[in-house]
Formats: sequence, structure tokens, C-alpha cells
Amino acid sequence: MGKVLITGGAGYIGSHVVKRLLERGIETIVLDNLQTGHREAVVGGTCVQGDIGDERILQEIFAGHEIDSVIHMAADCLVGDSTKAPLKYFNNNVNKSLRLLGEMVERRVNKMVFSSSAAVYGNPSRVPIEEDSPALPINPYGETKLIFEKILESCKIAHGLQYISLRYFNAAGADPDGLIGEDHHPETHLIPTVLKALLRKGRRVPIFGTDYDTPDGTCIRDYIHIVDIADAHILALEALHAGEGCDIFNLGNGNGFSVQQIIQATSQVTGRTIPVMESQRRPGDPPVLIASSEKIRKRLGWIPQYGKLEEIIDTAWRWHRTHPHGFRSSVLKKGVGG
Ligand code: UFG
Repeated sequence: MGKVLITGGAGYIGSHVVKRLLERGIETIVLDNLQTGHREAVVGGTCVQGDIGDERILQEIFAGHEIDSVIHMAADCLVGDSTKAPLKYFNNNVNKSLRLLGEMVERRVNKMVFSSSAAVYGNPSRVPIEEDSPALPINPYGETKLIFEKILESCKIAHGLQYISLRYFNAAGADPDGLIGEDHHPETHLIPTVLKALLRKGRRVPIFGTDYDTPDGTCIRDYIHIVDIADAHILALEALHAGEGCDIFNLGNGNGFSVQQIIQATSQVTGRTIPVMESQRRPGDPPVLIASSEKIRKRLGWIPQYGKLEEIIDTAWRWHRTHPHGFRSSVLKKGVGG
């Protein structure tokens, strides 16, 4: 396999993908505007700071490196935020991504693994969700991911693009060796928010909605370990190189946990009581998202290594305890020590 360009490779999911690729001896180049990503999260390979919408940087990267495939992860990815700032989402996730695709077509780089999302399904009528369930997003973020999947399909027909779209469910956990983990500012995701509430006095975890039509009234999600997500990208790249054709796969564990269950499980893993407060529903949140992961297991041979919720929370907890200020923690530590 030749060099892989990873857009958004300094982000939470991207940095774990890069680490895994490097461990497999695959050469990487990251393009990340570092608005939400961290240079320190990129543990090796080349890292270029820049935007996927910047044609000059794209031209330089493709001209200067023998890139034979792209993992396209750069995106805005918060459901709630997308309901407040839809234009930002359509611009960054669709408009700017078109420039990346344009450059790929021009350079005849014809393999892409795309970071899609469970958000394309909207409010599914059946769970676990299979890939052929109707894609009817209920928030702008999901719309942008679905639109881009359609664009990829058109490019397949017109330009011979080979793509695999991975529809992620809820990414969580951290690399078990503790080098990298989740570091968002502000943090909005459930598991890190719960862990941060344990590390910062006076914080409470808001439970967004307790009146959903679910057994305990809180939303249910399918949490998947970040390393298992990373491994799926390697399998997807290998499938593209083997000429196995374009496809769309769910990436989840197939188990659903409610917000309340996550809080209970975190309490058990950490041995501490989680301070919570009931809050209003968050706009754009579907009540239940659980993946059927049968297709990726069968077709790509994907087997999750960290399928247990406790392992997911435990690796995240280790990262947060050792990096209470995220990637800035090591800088702050050095500063304190002189
Ligand atoms: N939640 C809370 N309190 C919080 C944070 C979250 O109650 O402080 C709830 C949310 O309302 C939701 C659940 O916990 O019901 C999970 O929320 P996250 O913000 O952790 O994740 P989302 O399900 O909103 O979204 C994530 C990714 C999306 C992806 C989606 C797919 O951010 O990119 O999973 O399921 F599309």
C-alpha cells in the first residue's frame, strides 16, 4: 500500500487511525487545519497544517507526495451544533470536500475511505439499523454526510472513484497505551463529559432529555471503541486495494446503552458517583441508534477487539486521568516542573 492522505488526521478519530496505520508500516500524511485537532495527537508521519478547502495546499500535497489513497475525515461533526450553524456544516463538510475530490480526480487518485455517520439514518423505524435502512437525516450534520455519500457514488460512475463509506456510530475510548485520546474544546460528547465531571469539582453532567420513548427515558446509542474504528479503516483500505468495489458499512458494536446506563457503568468503572442534572432535550437527537454490524463483519472480516462497554470507558478514563487538560497536560506538567 502506498502513502495515505488522512484529512482531519489530528482529530480524535483521525489520530487513532494514523497511529494504527503507522503501526502497520503504512506511510501517512495528515492534512488538518488544527481548529479542533492537535498536532501532538499525530504520533508520526507527515503533518501539514491546512484546510481541505485550500486548493493551493491540496495541489502541493498531491504534487509532493505519492499518495494512492485518501481517508477523508476532516469535518464538523456535532449534531447539536449543526442545528444551530447549518451553513458552516454544508460549507465545511460538502463544499470544501468537493475541492479535495476535484484534486483527487485530477491526479487520478481513485481510492477513498470516507467518514460517514449514523446520523444519516435520522430516526430509524427499525433497530438494529442495517445499511439499506432508509437514510432520512433529522439534522444538518447527517444531511451533509448523506449528500457527500451521493457525490461519491456519482464520482464512481463518472471518474472510476473507488470508495468505502463508514457510517460511524458513537466513537469512544482511547488508545490502550495511553499516548492519545479524546480532547475536544468544548467537550460535548457523553463519555468524556461524564469523566470530566469527575475530574473538575462543581461540574454536573446534563442528561439531555429523560422523556424519550426508551426504557429509562434517556437516549440510546451504540458506543464503539476508537481502536476498533481505526482497524476498520485499515480493512477498508485493504479492500479497496484488492479491488473489492465500493460499499457502505455501519461501524458500531450492535449494543445500545442509554445515557443513564453510561452514567452507571462509568460509576462502576471509576468507583465514583457521577454528579448529574436533568436537562432539556438537545435538538437533533434521535432517541435510539444501534447498528447492525453484520455487513462489515462478513464482508471485511472486522472483529471488534474492545467490544465491552467497561473497556471503552476504562481506556477513556485512563486517558482523562493522565491528561486532565488533554494534550496540553504534558506542556503544563513540564511548565510546573521548570
Ligand atoms: N448527552 C447527554 N449529556 C451530555 C452529552 C450527551 O445527555 O452532556 C446525550 C446526548 O443527548 C445523546 C447521547 O448522550 O443522546 C450521546 O451524545 P454524544 O454527544 O456523545 O453523541 P451523539 O450521539 O450526539 O453523536 C455522535 C457523534 C456524531 C455521530 C453520532 C452517531 O458526535 O458525529 O454519534 O450516533 F453522528
